[in-house]
Amino acid sequence: MDIQFVAADAALGEKSALAIVVFEGEAASVQGGAFAKAMAGARFTGAKGQTLDVLAPAGSDAARVVLVGAGKAADFDVMGAETAAASAYAAVKTSGLTTLRVVLPGADAAKAARAAFGVRLAAYRFDKYRTKEAAEKKPSVVKTEVVTAEADAAVTAFADLAALADAISFSRDLVSEPPNVLYPAEFAKRVKQLEELGLEVEILGEAEMMKLGMGSLLGVGQGSIRESQLAILKWNGADDKKAQPIAFVGKGVCFDTGGISIKPADNMEHMKTDMGGAAAVSGLMHVLAGRKAKVNAVGILGLVENMPDGNAQRPGDVVTSMSGQTIEIINTDAEGRLVLADAVWYCQQRFKPKFMVDLATLTGAIIIALGDDVGGLFSNNDELSGNLLAASNAEGEPLWRMPLPAQYDKNIDSMIADMKNTGGRPGGSITAAMFIQRFVNGVPWAHLDIAGTAWKKPSTVPTIPEGATGFGVRLLNRMVADKYEG
Ligand code: BES
Ligand code: MN
Ligand code: ZN
Repeated sequence: MDIQFVAADAALGEKSALAIVVFEGEAASVQGGAFAKAMAGARFTGAKGQTLDVLAPAGSDAARVVLVGAGKAADFDVMGAETAAASAYAAVKTSGLTTLRVVLPGADAAKAARAAFGVRLAAYRFDKYRTKEAAEKKPSVVKTEVVTAEADAAVTAFADLAALADAISFSRDLVSEPPNVLYPAEFAKRVKQLEELGLEVEILGEAEMMKLGMGSLLGVGQGSIRESQLAILKWNGADDKKAQPIAFVGKGVCFDTGGISIKPADNMEHMKTDMGGAAAVSGLMHVLAGRKAKVNAVGILGLVENMPDGNAQRPGDVVTSMSGQTIEIINTDAEGRLVLADAVWYCQQRFKPKFMVDLATLTGAIIIALGDDVGGLFSNNDELSGNLLAASNAEGEPLWRMPLPAQYDKNIDSMIADMKNTGGRPGGSITAAMFIQRFVNGVPWAHLDIAGTAWKKPSTVPTIPEGATGFGVRLLNRMVADKYEG
């Protein structure tokens, strides 16, 4: 998508759609009341999310005019600008027109930049495997012009947002890729390519992880012909290159069949998204490098495939994690926590981070608890939780803090080992989080269970088209920018 910031009187090109963003209650007076009748006849009030096609007024060069509701003027903020522009794009994307011009009321540089960002997010599409899509079904809009009197400042404000949109697209692509294409080594290869942005990327294979004693992670990948990988992404953007880093760890189960505790066939294809945590961490590292964030950060990805096979791990097996703690496998489908156990331990041992946040599509139970719009936040630290919640709020990626009640910890005690990998159905996301907590060694830690939020179908907001959401990239990027840079 080509993005431009233009003055109100810039000539409108051929094949342009004009989107006029209007406020609720003030809609009827737009353009001297020219559209009042059309609005009344369509119950268009300017409420958030409404769109209405109207006839282009005489003398207008626009091939099409769309009104976009933005809700009450008093509530209109940068987020409002973002979603209104995304709605405008959604309304005209397959119109056959090639340019979208967005006119926002009071479009200062910040709002104009966020409008452009909204269009970038809304225009995300994963279509590389389609060979026969009819031309009229394909998006035709390739250029967006956002009207603002502060074009130069908008270009500057948009630079970091463009880096964020690129990173979210990267993350969404990883989640969207089919599992025969994106297996652990291929995932590792794609993040290795981020070295072009200035990241340092190390990849460990099974032999190296064996030496480190990562029996918990390796047990999960044991039934797969694909080699398990650990990816370590480093961004050293702080002035003090030796400053203690912040750390992010992602569950990267490239496909989760459940293993020997195999999942039912219905919807199993969805388990290609079980690397959503690793994709979010990759997206975060992408944007930190892309906008040259003044912070030292590491991202650790535990990349495996959970398959049933003659060599696969069995229920009843006992594995020894890198921490030395032993784990009795009760259910091979509770594999994410096994991957994270070694990944978080490695992260702390090697990097001694200021804090550590892990992201994982960890449990079906979090979807039962919070649905698919809200992620579960678990943490041993109120300050880190507060920072995550504030960022989540600001970016429209909702989180809800869940408890870690000490008395539930015994639910994962094992008869024969230090712990077992499931704690039963009650509070399933909590005992999963408490399993990870047993591998947290005194650092401030938070765990985000994004099983519900990593994928969205159908789409409910225009900035998140149906499919992979990239959930987590925005909120983590915001938290870093607001609290840990400079
Ligand atoms: N990857 C799944 C969790 C999941 C479910 C993600 C639905 C996205 C959508 C995870 O590995 C899993 O299978 N969890 C089990 C744990 C159980 C066996 C203790 C679950 O939630 O049922
Ligand atoms: Mn599973
Ligand atoms: Zn899983």
